[in-house]
Amino acid sequence: MIGHRTHLSVNEKGHLEIGGVDTVVLAGEMGTPLYVTDEDRIRTRYGELHSAFSSRGYGVKIKYAYKANTSLAILKIFQNLGAGADVLSEGEIRAALHIGLKPEEIIFTGNNKTDEELLFAVQKGVLINIDSIHELERLKRICSARDVRRARVSFRINPAVSPKTHPYLATGLRGSKFGVNHKKALAAYTSAKEDQNLTIEGIHMHIGSQILDPTVYAEATSRLMDIVCELKKKLGIDLRFIDLGGGFGIKYQESDRYIAASEFADALFAVIDDAVARCSLKRPEIFIEPGRFLVADSTVLLTRVNTVKETPFKKFIGVDSGFNTLARPAFYNAYHEVVVANRAGDGAKEVVTIAGNVCESGDILAHDRSLPKIVDGDLIALLDTGAYGLVMASQYNFRPRPAAVLVSAGRWIHIRKRETFDDLISGEILPPDM
Ligand SMILES: Cc1ncc(COP(=O)(O)O)c(C=O)c1O
Repeated sequence: MIGHRTHLSVNEKGHLEIGGVDTVVLAGEMGTPLYVTDEDRIRTRYGELHSAFSSRGYGVKIKYAYKANTSLAILKIFQNLGAGADVLSEGEIRAALHIGLKPEEIIFTGNNKTDEELLFAVQKGVLINIDSIHELERLKRICSARDVRRARVSFRINPAVSPKTHPYLATGLRGSKFGVNHKKALAAYTSAKEDQNLTIEGIHMHIGSQILDPTVYAEATSRLMDIVCELKKKLGIDLRFIDLGGGFGIKYQESDRYIAASEFADALFAVIDDAVARCSLKRPEIFIEPGRFLVADSTVLLTRVNTVKETPFKKFIGVDSGFNTLARPAFYNAYHEVVVANRAGDGAKEVVTIAGNVCESGDILAHDRSLPKIVDGDLIALLDTGAYGLVMASQYNFRPRPAAVLVSAGRWIHIRKRETFDDLISGEILPPDM
């Protein structure tokens, strides 16, 4: 067990294990950088969330947020668990259909959809979560110009609340680019109701990510439920579903509070129950769209130490990953716990900074950590990298993106190939006369 992480352990050789697999052996066979995901941990997290939400007297559907991690093997795990999909691009719609999800199980959100994406979603029968009045008008135009089936729709509402998270992770602030302002919701639904090509099915919010204060959900849900009541009273619309979004935070570092799934559910259902009774609503189906909560702590990123460099001011440990491999530290100043995987049992001995291999000053993976004395060739594990890790990797500095494996009960399988130089140049066109 590493900190509160019961799915990680240290074996008798002092090596970090995940899913019963020795990370040192794995990195030796597969090379680094390598993303390693524990399948059983994903199942456990899904179970926690599912039981916390489905015990409240409502039909509940988890729509896994594809953006967090789109490895097809992971999408398949969620499909087998019974999850639907929250997607935000044609590529993600195609991924969901590719693994065999039915269109009815997919909800298409996004603040900046193209006409082609809207048409594709309508043709496939995927529900479109409309982000603005302008998008509504575009969708109406697309539906009336083409001989397509009726579009199933909901609206993403911006409830204008602060989720108390990193500013880049807040999506439901008054000034955010996402959603229809809550004060404009009635007008949006009225306009959609008038159009014979649209079928209104639900309402949606997603207020941000890595939220560690469940009370903010209560405030936002209260705004959302006011709209649901108004729709019933003024337009006679009884919505089939209410989608409360994702954003449930995890404990990345010891100072973060661990929040159980039931705490999030308590905050949300208190408000929903009250509105359902007060406004005599038909019990709506409840959707949630978690990404991070389900996949973040399932994964470690293994990276090899190249260089140990002492300056008069700091000791840098240079590894074979950078923000091209794991963008979150550079992007959000995010914290990932670091373990020296080949000597995970050793006590802390010195303070070092883990530096990436990208030619940018901002490419630091972990600042000033107290770790065992590190030498070149050591294996570093960055923990909790399953969400917004591999999906955000890039080929910047012309380095291939890493491989990924799935582990379970002491066995591992390869789920993503390491890219090669050929992959780096596969899209390039060198004109023959140059
Ligand atoms: C619309 C929507 N739903 C769900 C999510 C998943 O968020 P999280 O991974 O924090 O649960 C996101 C991510 O930002 C999102 O944009």
